[in-house]
Amino acid sequence: MANPGAVITGGHFRIDMGKSFHNKRILGDGKTWSGLIGGTFVGMLSGIIIFYIANTMHIPYGNYSSNLLGSLYVLFIMSFGSLFGDIVGSFIKRRIGLKSGASGSVLDQWPFVVISFIFLFLFARTFFIRFYGDIIPIIVLLIITPPIHRGVNMLAYKLKMKDVPW
Ligand code: CTP
Ligand code: MG
Repeated sequence: MANPGAVITGGHFRIDMGKSFHNKRILGDGKTWSGLIGGTFVGMLSGIIIFYIANTMHIPYGNYSSNLLGSLYVLFIMSFGSLFGDIVGSFIKRRIGLKSGASGSVLDQWPFVVISFIFLFLFARTFFIRFYGDIIPIIVLLIITPPIHRGVNMLAYKLKMKDVPW
């Protein structure tokens, strides 16, 4: 939810401030502070809604932590990590010469999941081990994220929220 949140809130205050590195944009016009901050906020808000729904329905999977503050912390790490990963993907796309908005295939679909996992491992290890301690959910997420990412972007394209369906 953090990444679609960035599409809605994004577009203002470029993170690379328009600067280039070896004649190629550092990140490009598609990575902005408003998207990074707004997307983190949308990601956390979605997580809190899931947390409350799961709690009222007594579904254990919604418990990111034993309390709301702990959950907010985990949600921040997860959402920010995901958007940071999206920025890393963009950085790699620019280095290999792809223009902003060009289809980067796995570079659009994997860095954000992988880096979100790394952030959780580094900064929210109790949660990480509890939810992803077994390698299976990680593998499942690595497999299902690209088609979900593609599906959400195709929907955003149809709704005219994005210029391209990837
Ligand atoms: N967006 C943003 N800030 C971010 C991430 C996304 O403003 N940190 C917004 C931008 O308006 C961007 C849109 O969300 O154009 C879609 O995001 P994405 O497809 O990830 O970016 P691209 O424009 O494709 O750029 P890149 O090629 O660098 O991935
Ligand atoms: Mg893109």
